[in-house]
Amino acid sequence: MLPAYLPNPVAALLGGGTPIDFGRTLSDGKRILGDGKTYRGLVCGVLAGIAVGLVQISLANHFGWDFLPRHTLASITLLSLGALLGDMGKSLIKRRLGKDRGAKWPIADQYDLVIGAFALTLLFDPSWVFANITLPILVIIIIITPILHRAVNIIGYLGGIKEVPW
Ligand code: CTP
Ligand code: MG
Repeated sequence: MLPAYLPNPVAALLGGGTPIDFGRTLSDGKRILGDGKTYRGLVCGVLAGIAVGLVQISLANHFGWDFLPRHTLASITLLSLGALLGDMGKSLIKRRLGKDRGAKWPIADQYDLVIGAFALTLLFDPSWVFANITLPILVIIIIITPILHRAVNIIGYLGGIKEVPW
């Protein structure tokens, strides 16, 4: 899951600059995505997810770790891009609900990346998902995701990277 988990914190660390929606609003008068979704965050986040995936692939090849799910260039790219597309999809709906950038939206804020990562991978590489994401693995992901999310956001808040600890 590292290629799906890494893009969000890297986007928070390195993001900024031009927003993906170029500041535009929809007919409801609210921003399409908001200032929290930027091109730099998207590109840096996806590249970081792919980079950690490449490290995982080479480690698995080098040590012959057959007990771990096998990543491919497709799986790491889809998980990484999907994670941030899920994050953007969440912001799109969040703005429609009238929640401002950074407002708390429990459950959606935690699982957006998992839903996006699996949705994109299911769409373009379904066999990878069925071969690797078994029911026990899915249960573990559902349990650890909100814990990791909270822990990383508290660290980001204390480190001055995030404005809110969620
Ligand atoms: N970020 C970015 N580009 C992205 C995703 C995130 O630049 N595609 C950066 C932004 O600086 C953002 C921070 O990462 O503020 C934290 O991301 P997130 O919590 O997802 O955004 P929020 O600011 O909370 O906005 P939203 O309410 O839309 O989730
Ligand atoms: Mg947020």
